[in-house]
Order: sequence, then C-alpha cells, then structure tokens
Amino acid sequence: MTIVASIDLRLTLFHRIFFMINIRHRIDELTHELNEHNYKYYVLNQPTVSDYEFDRKLKELEKLELEHPEFADANSPTKRVGGDITDKFEKVTHIRPMLSLSNTYSEEDIRDWEERLHKSVGDNIEYVLELKYDGVAISLYYKNGRFVRGVTRGDGSVGEDVSANIRTIGSIPLRLRGKFPDEFEIRGEIFLPHAVFAELNREREKQGEELYANPRNTAAGTLKHQDSKLVAKRKLDCFLYFVLGDHLPYDNHFDSLLHAADWGFKVPDHKMHLIEKANSIEEIMRFIHYWDEHRHNLPFDIDGVVIKVNQISLWDELGMTAKSPRWAIAYKFKAETVSTVLEKISYQVGRTGAITPVANLRPVLLAGTTVKRASLYNADQIAKLDIREGDTVFIEKGGEIIPKVIAVDTTKPRGSVHPHIYIRQCPECGTTLVRNEGEAAHYCPNENGCPPQIKGKIEHFISRKAMNIEGIGSETIAGLYEKKLIRTVADIYDLRKEQLIGLEFTVGDEFGENPKKRSLQEKSVNNLLAGIEASKKIPFERVLFALGIRFVGETVAKKLTRRFKTIDSLVAANAEALLETDEVGEKIAQSILEWFSLEANRSMVERLKNSGLLFTADEGRSLATVSERLKGMSFVVI
Ligand code: IVH
Repeated sequence: MTIVASIDLRLTLFHRIFFMINIRHRIDELTHELNEHNYKYYVLNQPTVSDYEFDRKLKELEKLELEHPEFADANSPTKRVGGDITDKFEKVTHIRPMLSLSNTYSEEDIRDWEERLHKSVGDNIEYVLELKYDGVAISLYYKNGRFVRGVTRGDGSVGEDVSANIRTIGSIPLRLRGKFPDEFEIRGEIFLPHAVFAELNREREKQGEELYANPRNTAAGTLKHQDSKLVAKRKLDCFLYFVLGDHLPYDNHFDSLLHAADWGFKVPDHKMHLIEKANSIEEIMRFIHYWDEHRHNLPFDIDGVVIKVNQISLWDELGMTAKSPRWAIAYKFKAETVSTVLEKISYQVGRTGAITPVANLRPVLLAGTTVKRASLYNADQIAKLDIREGDTVFIEKGGEIIPKVIAVDTTKPRGSVHPHIYIRQCPECGTTLVRNEGEAAHYCPNENGCPPQIKGKIEHFISRKAMNIEGIGSETIAGLYEKKLIRTVADIYDLRKEQLIGLEFTVGDEFGENPKKRSLQEKSVNNLLAGIEASKKIPFERVLFALGIRFVGETVAKKLTRRFKTIDSLVAANAEALLETDEVGEKIAQSILEWFSLEANRSMVERLKNSGLLFTADEGRSLATVSERLKGMSFVVI
C-alpha cells in the first residue's frame, strides 16, 4: 500500500513539475515573440503581425503571469502598458556624470573648434555628425542583456529613477538581442513625435483642456508622470546616441551605434542621413546647412546638430572643459525669423478671463507653414517694443507652436503715428478689465457673464479629470451655448433628447473664423445623454474639482472632501475651519469663501444636487451604510 501511495505521490509531483516547466516555457516563448514584435514595430517600423494577434498573445501572457506570479518579471512585455504608480522618483547618482555639450550658434565657432582639435591631436580626425534631438536626456543601464534602470539627467550627477515609465516606451528594449556586453550604459533623448503631439492636443482641445505648448515640455512632463499607464498612452519615443562602459567591442563612436542597433536599440538611421561620418570642415558645414534647411520635414523636433570625434582613443587625449567634453560640440539652429506687416491687433479672452493680444499678420511663410497670427504676450510687451498697427514686424518660431513678434523692423516705414492703446474693456462682454498687482496679463472679472469664460467653465466641468462626460466636446458646448440651451453647468442636467436631435449650430476655429455648420444626430445625442447620466456617479471630490473654484485643484478638492464630508458643511465652513485643512492656505480659503458667498453659485450647487450629483464623500456614505447594517445587532467582545 505505502509503495503504491508513494509512487502516486511521485507521479503527482512529476506532473506538477512538468506542468510548471510547460508554463515557464510558454511564458518565455510569449515574452520572446512579443519582444520581437515590439522591436519590429517600434524600432524597425516594420510590423509583421496584426494588432489583434499581438493583443491576443499579450492577453495570454498577462493571464499566465497573473496565475503564476512566481514567474513575474519586471521586464515582461506586459509592463509596456504601464500600471505601476511611482509615488516619489528615487534619486540615483550617475555612475558617470551626464555631461552637457558646449554649444554655439556661430559657424565661426565650429571652424575654430575644428582647428583647435587639429592643433591638439593632429590631422587624423574623423567626425560623426548627428542631429541634436530636442527632447529629454535619459540614461539607460543594462546588465546581462536586461534593462535595469532608466535615470533622468537631473543636475548631471544625480538624476531620478523613472524606470516604470521607461518600460512603457516601445522603442526601448527590455531584453537585448544578439551578442551584447555584460554591462553598459546607453544615453539618448526621449521625445514626442509631432504626430503624437498633435493628436494629444486635438484630444485636449476636444476635452476643453489647456493645450500643451510644445513637444519637448510635454515629453519632459510625461516622463515624470507618476502613473505609468498614462505614460504608456502618450507614446513617447527614444533615439540613443551614446554608449558607455568598460571593455566595449569597438574603438569608434560610429561603430558603437551600429552595435547598439544590433542589440535592439533605435539609433539614428544612416540611410536617412540622420547620422553621417565626415573628414573635413566642409562636410560638417554641408550637414549643418542641409539640416537647417530640411529640419521641418522631420517628424520630430531638432534644435541643431552635434559634431563628435569618432575615434574613442582621442576622447581622453582631448579631455574636458569644466562641464563638457572637448571631443564634441553642438551647433544650434537659430529660431527662424521673417518680417511681415502687422495688419491689426486683436484680443482673445481665454477660459480663465485672461486677455491675450494677437498680431494679425499679412500671411508669410515661416518654418514650413504659412503664419497669419502671432502672439504679442501682454500690454507691457507691446509698449516696450512700441508695436503699432501697420508696422512691419519680425516674427520668430522657436519650439512653440505659435510664433511670436520679437521686434519692429525700424528700417521700414512705421504704421500708425500713435503708440498702440491697449483695450480697457473686455472685447466679449464689455466689462472693464482688471490687472492684478505683479501680474502681466489683464483679466475680465465677469466670470459668470462673459461667454468664453462661461464656456470655459463648462468645458472644465465635463473634462476627463472632472465629471468625465463623454460625448460632449468644446464644439458641442459652443453650439449649445449659441442655442441658449446652456448658461451654467447645472443646465447640462436639464438637456432633453427632443431639444437636441437635429440641433443645428455653427462652429468656428479658435479665432471664431472658418465657420462650419454642424447638426446633432440621434446617435451622438444618445451618447451625450448617456455620458451625462453616468456622471451622476462621479465621487464628490471630483464634483468639487469640477465646479472650477479658483485654486481648488484635484488635490485640494480631495483634502476638502475628506475634511468636510458634505457640501453643506463646506458651505458652512468659515475661514478658520478651511485653514485647518491640509494644503489650504489663505489664498485658497479666500477663494472658496468668495465662491460660496455668491448666490448664483449656491443655487447652481442646489440644482446640481437636485439633479442627483454626489455631494457627500464616499467614506461618509459607506460608513453610514455599514452602521445602518449593524443597527440592532449586539456583539460580545472577548
Ligand atoms: S551627446 C557628452 N548627442 O544635448 C556628450 N547629446 O547639452 C553627451 N542631445 O543633454 C551628449 N542630441 O540631451 C548628444 N545626438 C546627440 C544629442 C544630444 C541631443 C542633448 C542631450 C544633452 C544635450 C547636451
């Protein structure tokens, strides 16, 4: 009997081990396949599998990892979709400091640099010419073919560990291919391609959120985002341009990048002239001129070119200045400037009531696009540059999407004989503008009566982080406003299907030009109404944030709901009580008191309450239901 039992036991054990080996094998197989697909898609730009097939494999792997956490791997392809939240990015000291490049806008400086090199190390110098990517520098560390850590530049000696976010970037390998060194660091630039940036801003506009100014800052902000799931959605990209380590298998920089490409990294493509070898200053200049002219055709931003000595043996010989190596230099492109006639100065009223003066220009070609408008910043700037209607002005396009007026071309005849007089009244509602001490912009104080501000408040209310009402965008809001169906956020909850179907309205661009007719169809009306209905389940803290009380952001709204539990106690709170709340200081307390002191706001809250929105903190509600359930029961405590 015992012998039979023990054989049985052994067999079961054998089955179990066999089963586990099989699982492990399948996990490895899926990991390998998914890594290959990622590489082909993100690095080579040559996908060989359908999205459907890819997702199916990813789901299978996710399921296996969930069922067998003992095989979990921080570098699994499943980590690419994000999920890890980083509360605080760990500070990490760079193994080798992250130096910067000395840079110049002058071709003369490049010629001098090249001559100095010859004087120091003789004539046998080869150069590698690269683009200067306009993004965020990153250092990636690999050991035994696996991604270990990704660290930002920080101050050059200490950066921050952003590994969870790095794992979401498809073009950064988590496991290497081919024959790679045991240990090395590779540096490069994380950036947001133009197409992704434009799509992101389109989406933000639809949601009524403020637009991002340029791809570089957006990439930097994204990389430091705490929620890696959001980072994964942003589709960052990365070019690698510098390999560091001991006993690496090459003796020149160009080859180092060819090797890095074999290990699975996305390095600049020689065939596309993103990187080239050169032997003379003439070739260097040709590369500079070529890219100065063609940079606008690239699908990402660059702000110059980098010239590096190719032979690594010369690097030590050339040494360093205080903070940059002598073997490399960056030539930065000047922001492109053109001159044109400023036909008229107009004013835009933003969602917060801030006034922006806009230069309406005689159309002119700048950095690959026709420019009709440029920013004039504020009254001080117009006065300082003495910009007048009819002047010929220089406009410039740097990294930002909107060009700016930088100076008056005084060689041309002046426009108006008088200095420009800045408006005193709001161009939208006629209210006298105010300017707070220490602030550059003028504001329209008519928060609840000025059309762009009303629409702005409604856009904020429905936005993703607030009530997240899907099915309405800024265009529909403008349409509903135009048809007088909404004047405050409370009106959203009174909208009825029969009012909306077939509703016609006109929408214009951000300057109210190029009007187009739109009409609401049954399907979008159903969507919109479903979105409104679903928003009634949004927790109190987000409803409070959605109200758009000045200075009450997401965090403060959270703290307030935790402290006051219900809107009624928040309305009743005096300054002392408000100030006792975490993160609430004088300025915020004052703003809350002012907001609730307005009858219009209090009655709007009443209407929202009657429409069924949540104005009680979750915690309070669940405690109430628990105590309700415990009512009448008795407990013996031992
Ligand atoms: S090489 C020691 N190559 O420019 C040299 N840098 O001020 C290390 N950059 O922080 C840098 N494109 O973020 C190098 N092709 C390129 C680059 C590049 C952009 C950035 C990098 C660095 C800054 C230099």
